[in-house]
Amino acid sequence: MKFFLDTANLQQIQEAASMGILDGVTTNPSLMAKEGIKGQDNVLQHYKAICDIVGHGDVSAEVISTDFAGMVREGEILASIHENIVVKVPMIKDGIKAIRYFTDNGIRTNCTLVFSAGQAILAAKAGATYVSPFIGRIDDIGGDGMDLITQIVHIYGIQGFETEVLAASIRSPLHIIKCAEMGADVVTCPLSAIEGLFNHPLTDSGLQKFLEDYKKVNG
Ligand code: G3P
Repeated sequence: MKFFLDTANLQQIQEAASMGILDGVTTNPSLMAKEGIKGQDNVLQHYKAICDIVGHGDVSAEVISTDFAGMVREGEILASIHENIVVKVPMIKDGIKAIRYFTDNGIRTNCTLVFSAGQAILAAKAGATYVSPFIGRIDDIGGDGMDLITQIVHIYGIQGFETEVLAASIRSPLHIIKCAEMGADVVTCPLSAIEGLFNHPLTDSGLQKFLEDYKKVNG
């Protein structure tokens, strides 16, 4: 399972990259706004900076247009920034048409804002590279986001769809573990969720004891 960081923050991306466990990055307009990135030139430059840190991993850059022509225009510009850019397209009718266009023209895509198995089937039919079910936002309204991951992984498996299941809107380390159990191809997470995986009190107390015992005989 690949680990993507769900942020546009360069320091956090650098931090995850330095751990040696970063496989890519996803962004969205909200995450770009959070970093204060505005204006087309700055946006494109920021994506380039992210790609440079990530190295070989994929970087999702989202279109703002909601019509087919606009999405194609934006997506082609985004894809030209760097070979690792994946054009992120919303799950709407024109989005599916744009994904088909990008697929036929060798541009990789991430179909975002997916909340149902039916939407995930459409994304796969259009040839999306990744599909992004938002599990945390389903949990937020009293649903079970993990059920959707399980369902999509199952459907893609029996249908032979090649689209990768990219579990998005991750809220916690438990989401990451559950996604691994369910067979998601990718999780995209805040850095805090990844860092939460490190923690165990028995690791801390065990390490403390090892060091104390070493000191007892070595001074
Ligand atoms: O990037 C899409 C998704 O991961 C958003 O997550 O936390 O805003 O629901 P969140």
